[in-house]
Amino acid sequence: MLDQIPLHTSPTLRAIVKRVREIAEEDLPVLLIGETGTGKSYLAGVIHTVLEKTDGMFLTLDCATLNPNLVESELFGHEKGAFTGAADRKSGMFEFACGGTILLDEVENLSLEIQAKLLRVLDEKKFRRVGGIEEMAAYFQLISTINVDVDEILQTGQLRKDFFYRIASVEIVLPPLRKRPQDILIFADYFLRLVNEKYGREFRLTQDVRNYLLNYPWPGNIRELKHAFFAASRSARSSELRIEDFEAILRKPKRRVATKQLQTLAEAEKDHIQTVLKHTGFKIARSARILGIAENTLRAKMRKYRIKKPNR
Ligand SMILES: Nc1ncnc2c1ncn2[C@@H]1O[C@H](COP(=O)(O)OP(=O)(O)OP(=O)(O)O)[C@@H](O)[C@H]1O
Ligand SMILES: [Mg+2]
Repeated sequence: MLDQIPLHTSPTLRAIVKRVREIAEEDLPVLLIGETGTGKSYLAGVIHTVLEKTDGMFLTLDCATLNPNLVESELFGHEKGAFTGAADRKSGMFEFACGGTILLDEVENLSLEIQAKLLRVLDEKKFRRVGGIEEMAAYFQLISTINVDVDEILQTGQLRKDFFYRIASVEIVLPPLRKRPQDILIFADYFLRLVNEKYGREFRLTQDVRNYLLNYPWPGNIRELKHAFFAASRSARSSELRIEDFEAILRKPKRRVATKQLQTLAEAEKDHIQTVLKHTGFKIARSARILGIAENTLRAKMRKYRIKKPNR
């Protein structure tokens, strides 16, 4: 059963996990970049396990929703009386992590002030509680996620460049689902199994439905696909999940479309290389780093697939 989960069957995810294993010795901060619903938060949990940090805790700082005034004390902790309302000493994530993982989820929402304060912790692995003088060691694996355009937030200054380079020693891009059609079917089969197990059903997918799923653009990515299966199975009238069951749920219903050819591995590779190159503005060194291959290998693949930097 375990070898059927997408982590083992999806080429994209297998490549990512392989890459994470390769850097395991180095304790490098990992940055996961991808549209909403591509599985960044999920993958962060996987990385915690793959990097064998499970003796320590997995702590998530939800940078998008946490009140900015609380972020500092949440991370660093505080001494009694450090500020109005600090009635007791409180330990923060750096203290609790103890060899575990800290996830800065949607890190682009951290204030510039906190980004600056984190620089020192990341460089020196040392910190003080707010209002404290005792210097303490911080041992943790850092994972951050970003679901917006990185170049744009660097450009606008929302994210400090020096902070970005520290949290992005290992940059992993999770391509949107529409760019990895083989994963659409892998996840569809997986969620179908989950639904069948949960509701004690034996739903099947016709080829028509598979084609429909392949051609839908999945703006909400894996989250949307998962939701679609659970919702469709609740409303389904027969033992088959039909296109109509999905059309009723998905944001942009599509008409039945002709079978789109599934990509070959080479086509998927070419596509993925193009996605990453576009993302970095055709910067070879950075793209090679993201792809986890040597710069020369990337150049060779670009020649092979005739990928050229577009003239602007
Ligand atoms: N590899 C996977 N195997 C099984 N389920 C997955 C996988 N990846 C993602 N999911 C499921 O898809 C949904 C969306 O994943 P997740 O929350 O990790 O996305 P995200 O990229 O963090 O999105 P956002 O940017 O909106 O926070 C979750 O319900 C998650 O459990
Ligand atoms: Mg998330």
